[in-house]
Amino acid sequence: MTTPLYSLEDTRALAQKLAQTLPEGRLVLLTGPMGAGKTTLVKFLAEALGFRGEVTSPTYTLIHEYPTEHGLIVHIDAYRMADQEELYSLGLEDYLPEARLVLVEWGNPRVFPDSLEIHLEPTQTGRTATLRSHGAIFPLERFAEKESPG
Ligand SMILES: Nc1ncnc2c1ncn2[C@@H]1O[C@H](COP(=O)(O)OP(=O)(O)OP(=O)(O)O)[C@@H](O)[C@H]1O
Ligand SMILES: [Mg+2]
Repeated sequence: MTTPLYSLEDTRALAQKLAQTLPEGRLVLLTGPMGAGKTTLVKFLAEALGFRGEVTSPTYTLIHEYPTEHGLIVHIDAYRMADQEELYSLGLEDYLPEARLVLVEWGNPRVFPDSLEIHLEPTQTGRTATLRSHGAIFPLERFAEKESPG
């Protein structure tokens, strides 16, 4: 499923829709080249779930946590990680039952086969977002439905 994102407002709208449709405690991998908008999508997801603080890429610390009334958002940037398997030994899976969402920039679907991948790709007119379900079944068909009235 691919959606065009012509502006930051489109990314915000995508985040709002994801916040409404993604089940709790899910692992979401944000992929795509540098500057594609991965951190921006995390920012809007946190905003959509009611977090009002600062969202920045976890560079020096590996993990940022954003508490929301729906549960914790866990934000990881795996860009500098030589071996993402390490995230398992660091306790990534312990977060999943508790967290609202665990978001991993540069997350590798081969290392995390039970995840939703959101691939962002720059295009001539902005960006595209492609949703791919790995392993676990995500309600992508629900996501693709037209807005219902009300
Ligand atoms: N949909 C969009 N429309 C216009 N600009 C955007 C959009 N999404 C992101 N940007 C802009 O692109 C720039 C890079 O975004 P961002 O930092 O989110 O990318 P990233 O994929 O996290 O990069 P990195 O790989 O370095 O972590 C920012 O200035 C951001 O405002
Ligand atoms: Mg980033």
